[in-house]
Amino acid sequence: MLFAATLSLLALPNVWAQSSVADAYVASESPLARAGMLANIGPSGSQSLGAFPGIVIASPSTVNPDYLFTWTRDSAVAFSAIVNQFALGIDTTTRGEIDDYVASQVIVQQIPNPSGDLASGGLGEPKFNINETAFTGPWGRPQRDGPALRSIALITWANFLLSESNTSYVTDTLWPIIENDLNYVAANWNESTFDLWEELNSSSFFTTAVQHRVLRQGVSLASALGQPQSLVSNYETQANFVLCFLQTYWNTAGHITANTGGGRSGIDANTVLASIHTFDAAAGCDALTFQPCSDLALLNLHTYVDAFRSLYEINSGFALNEAVLTGRYPEDVYMGGNPWYLTTLAVAEQLYDSLIVWNSQKSLEVTSISLPFFQIFDSSIAAGTYASSSSQFTSLTGAIKTFSDGFVAAVANHTPANGGLAEQISNTNGTPVSAVDLTWSFAAALTTFDARKGVVPASWGAKGLSLSCAGEPIPQTVSVTFNVDATTIFGQNIYLTGSVDALENWSTETALPMSSADYPIWSITVTLPANTDIQYKYINIDGSALTWESDPNNEFTTPASGTFVTHDTWR
Ligand SMILES: *[C@@H]1O[C@H](CO)[C@@H](O)[C@H](O)[C@H]1NC(C)=O
Ligand SMILES: *[C@@H]1O[C@H](CO)[C@@H](O)[C@H](O)[C@H]1NC(C)=O
Ligand SMILES: *[C@@H]1O[C@H](CO)[C@@H](O)[C@H](O)[C@H]1NC(C)=O
Ligand SMILES: *[C@@H]1O[C@H](CO)[C@@H](O)[C@H](O)[C@H]1NC(C)=O
Ligand SMILES: *[C@@H]1O[C@H](CO)[C@@H](O)[C@H](O)[C@H]1NC(C)=O
Repeated sequence: MLFAATLSLLALPNVWAQSSVADAYVASESPLARAGMLANIGPSGSQSLGAFPGIVIASPSTVNPDYLFTWTRDSAVAFSAIVNQFALGIDTTTRGEIDDYVASQVIVQQIPNPSGDLASGGLGEPKFNINETAFTGPWGRPQRDGPALRSIALITWANFLLSESNTSYVTDTLWPIIENDLNYVAANWNESTFDLWEELNSSSFFTTAVQHRVLRQGVSLASALGQPQSLVSNYETQANFVLCFLQTYWNTAGHITANTGGGRSGIDANTVLASIHTFDAAAGCDALTFQPCSDLALLNLHTYVDAFRSLYEINSGFALNEAVLTGRYPEDVYMGGNPWYLTTLAVAEQLYDSLIVWNSQKSLEVTSISLPFFQIFDSSIAAGTYASSSSQFTSLTGAIKTFSDGFVAAVANHTPANGGLAEQISNTNGTPVSAVDLTWSFAAALTTFDARKGVVPASWGAKGLSLSCAGEPIPQTVSVTFNVDATTIFGQNIYLTGSVDALENWSTETALPMSSADYPIWSITVTLPANTDIQYKYINIDGSALTWESDPNNEFTTPASGTFVTHDTWR
């Protein structure tokens, strides 16, 4: 035994080298990554440069590139990491930051912006100024992953607080923010979106995957809080449609097509990030939800990693079972097209997540789909299920652990002594490139390190789902009949105008004429978006004389489905 152990140690020097580099890096980088992330959160983060309380800057870099903004996505990714660590008892020092984040998002959700306002699509706005004002320059908008990721973070927090019986805070403070995001996701998942890299306007796997996850979480939370059954069942109906749509991204070339538009190969870190952001250990290696250890996600990972082997000069000379640095997608030219810290770490995290599941279920399945991935480590492996007592299980999980550690070691080898993690790594000489101290890079380090330690995030309900794909997605609209009791004189007519397109955006010129068939009740039926806050007023028009109802605006929220009727009296 001793002899055999010594032999394999000698035969596999990389095992020990890469895993010990990763061990040392996790120890040294953990506190630096944590500090780096917190430094980018206002108001007191040392690099947050005037960010308002709870506002997360993407990076302190102000030129080439200027990232001194707050992105809904990046902020949510950071706070998902923070909230997960809090809920799991790993770091419970961040309650002040979490409370500030919650308070900041109440404000940010309400900021009218180029995507709209809260009622008309404004939640899809990707980024804001760090003083909680709208960014009004041209940009790739909307980006519909933001509301999903934010509510994933907030629902994780809500579930933790519910477990501590802090129900009133969840109901009064968190639920209204979460409900806005969930309603946005439920109503808009089937609309085109800019992808997480802010370049392509189509449908995007990462966006769809996180939208599916949060709708499932919405079903559970809304039920737990006693929300109306119509709301709960709308989330569930939409989640079922989204899960069906999610399947359509798989393609026969052995990977997930990251975006439906853009004319690229479709190979993209988008898909690896989706897998780790929807990890649910309770679901095992479920392929419907593309769990990290599912055969589809493993083959996808294999295709993705190999796309970067010959692309970057810095990756030359590594064998197929050795880690390399990976980027966003092979066609990337941004800042010269380089590997990124967070994408390379995501590969490791997907594999650590897989190891968590294989070790806990005490077996590992190789299918005809995932076979090419497992053959990297054992060219003679065959499809089958290998119990943890088998030599194949031991050697495959050992080799995959080493492979994963290699990605961490690759990042370690390109991390400067102060632990700063930029956005990118030069594809030729390995120096940090683009924005310094990227919040998302730090968050990626923390979640990858936790996965390496076997930390299991809370389940979100991926287990036991099945497809029910009959029918087309139901348009998210409701029929609303407006009735107003208004006494008029000959020549006067009553019109309706209000805050959404279907109510003509407050226009008086194109306000909707109402019927006086049941005078003095004036009436009109309009199709409006579901789950939407509607403000409106009636106007009395007589030739060129126009009289508005007195303030304030009338207001209601449309239901998730069905019809709605108002009974107003002219003011
Ligand atoms: C908020 O920040 C933006 C961008 O820096 C700046 O243009 C604007 O004047 C600031 N607004 C206020 C109210 O401070
Ligand atoms: C509930 O959580 C909120 C947010 O952190 C906190 O302010 C409040 O004190 C908590 N309430 C109780 C009863 O623990
Ligand atoms: C909307 O859903 C249908 C059915 O799943 C799908 O074919 C279509 O591509 C989707 N469109 C967008 C923009 O999500
Ligand atoms: C994005 O694509 C959709 C569907 O093709 C289109 O209606 C929309 O105008 C596009 N948005 C932008 C900003 O190009
Ligand atoms: C309503 O306003 C929005 C945002 O200003 C605009 O994009 C849209 O075209 C307007 N719709 C109508 C019907 O005027």
